[in-house]
Amino acid sequence: MQLEEKKADLGLVTRPRRLRASAAIRDMVRETRVNAAGLMQPLFIVSGSGVRAPISSMPGVARISADVAAQEARELAQAGIRSILLFGIPDFKDAYASSNYDPHGVVQRAARAIKRAVPEMLVAADLCNCEYTDHGHCGVLDARGDVENDATVELLVRTALTYADSEVDIIAPSDMMDGRVGAIRRALDEAGHTRVSIMAYSAKYASAFYGPFREAADSTPAFGDRRTYQMDPANAREALREVSLDIEEGADIVMVKPALAYLDVVRRVRDSVSLPVAVYNVSGEYAMIKAASANGWIDEGRIVDELMTAFTRAGADIIITYFAKDYARRNA
Ligand code: PBG
Repeated sequence: MQLEEKKADLGLVTRPRRLRASAAIRDMVRETRVNAAGLMQPLFIVSGSGVRAPISSMPGVARISADVAAQEARELAQAGIRSILLFGIPDFKDAYASSNYDPHGVVQRAARAIKRAVPEMLVAADLCNCEYTDHGHCGVLDARGDVENDATVELLVRTALTYADSEVDIIAPSDMMDGRVGAIRRALDEAGHTRVSIMAYSAKYASAFYGPFREAADSTPAFGDRRTYQMDPANAREALREVSLDIEEGADIVMVKPALAYLDVVRRVRDSVSLPVAVYNVSGEYAMIKAASANGWIDEGRIVDELMTAFTRAGADIIITYFAKDYARRNA
């Protein structure tokens, strides 16, 4: 006989509510705790100085210049945030994303400024071409207008080296080209950057949740979409395949993106690899919560706490989120 049946026989009721009766007992038996040291704050970097230009679809987020980013890094450190993820929005775009591998480009300069201001801040740089091309796709186009894989990887490698030279600690390729992790790892090692890590956007889906980011980064494709390189949202087994390829090629951290609609994928990846797993709580997810809370329809703080807990429960070690600073401040 099962234990529950035995108890019922004895007239006993099983009462899980006993463990919910007070804050003290709930805290005592809580299974999931968010790792504050795993929260990563994205920053959008533009040229100039003293710039803080709000992004209308992402209330509370702005495009900032390198000097403002250095100041922001100080505030983040004070709030308890220990890592940031840089995105560059260059002044000049062309078909070959040439501003991306400029040694004095927006990301390169911001990384140096942030390291000077807060040496212990962990600086990651998103590595992609879509913010740097005039057509908004993530790489070089072939005659059919599709992104040419291997030529794009060459550009990514070139840019990755300039990021590493600019004191970036973690290179985060988000382009979804095949073979890019291996090519970047080899080039970094050959250049002596053996200590620079790679956080691979391994399972990055072709998602409508990136909408506000594309406004922020001015990277909406001029034609077509990203479905020939980013993954089909219907596929989870394929995510495991992408993750294992990136690990074979030398990734140090693997990522699933977006977060909310993909927590099953986070769990499957967590269960299948021993590396740290990151999840990206993307712009559309942020914008929905901000919009609903601005209307008074939801309690933003409680929703954000619940989400961070859910990402952690699903198995994420690292959470990239525009809410990082707010969350850290509220939970200090
Ligand atoms: C660059 C990149 C994107 C995001 C991160 N890196 C946009 C895209 O792929 O279109 C999205 C981030 C977000 O929505 O918060 N390729």
